[in-house]
Amino acid sequence: MEQRKLKAVIIDGGPRKAHNTAQALQKAMEGARDAGAEVSYIRLFDLNLKGCYSCFACKVKNAKTHGICAIRDELRPILQQAVEADVVIIGSPVYFSYPTGATRSFIERFAFPNYSYVVNEAGRRATPLEHPKKTALLFTMNISEELLEKWKYTTLLGRNDVALKAGFGHCETLYICNTYQFDDYSRYDFNLYTEEEKRQYRDEHFPQDLERAYALGRRLVEEAAAEE
Ligand SMILES: Cc1cc2nc3c(=O)[nH]c(=O)nc-3n(C[C@H](O)[C@H](O)[C@H](O)COP(=O)(O)O)c2cc1C
Repeated sequence: MEQRKLKAVIIDGGPRKAHNTAQALQKAMEGARDAGAEVSYIRLFDLNLKGCYSCFACKVKNAKTHGICAIRDELRPILQQAVEADVVIIGSPVYFSYPTGATRSFIERFAFPNYSYVVNEAGRRATPLEHPKKTALLFTMNISEELLEKWKYTTLLGRNDVALKAGFGHCETLYICNTYQFDDYSRYDFNLYTEEEKRQYRDEHFPQDLERAYALGRRLVEEAAAEE
């Protein structure tokens, strides 16, 4: 029997169209496509969207909106697409130790309708997923890899992983550190690092980060296909 074509949705929660987050997500998309998935790339900054209204329409018993975000705005069709996808990869730059506001809004409205307040005897979620999926987070940031744990980024950013795992069962996170932030460092008020240090780090590490992003997209689709 011919295998169904899997779907991968890439969510770009950053404002810059061609910088670190977008480049890494494009690679993740390439990996997903090479693994045979039909892919879509969504830029949250192109949409007019808000976070969860706490209306709980997604939790009303026997309601049409049960398990679905009821807010009717530009994010609604994207949520539908993501909910029906096999793989969803969400990327964001880190702003003050957290994902961007747009990314958080997306995660709230994507994960919460699928987050169950009901536990069974084994203490696990009682509502099986209609569309099981692999989710992943990809964060790009200024700080170095050594500071990730020290500054508790893995804990703070890791809470997003917890939300997605609770909603969908699977989530993993890729951290991309010490990114090259400006096109021309000499134009900006900045002396945390030298431009040379940043450039050297980027030249040595960013190509590997892009490869890791590619591998992530590819592997998640392959794993989802193997579980079909
Ligand atoms: C408003 C703002 C806040 C930021 N806060 C942090 C931060 O808390 N930690 C960090 O490591 N980098 C921080 N950065 C740097 C970005 O996360 C980093 O440069 C990222 O790779 C940018 O992604 P982009 O190139 O896709 O735009 C911040 C940048 C901005 C604009």
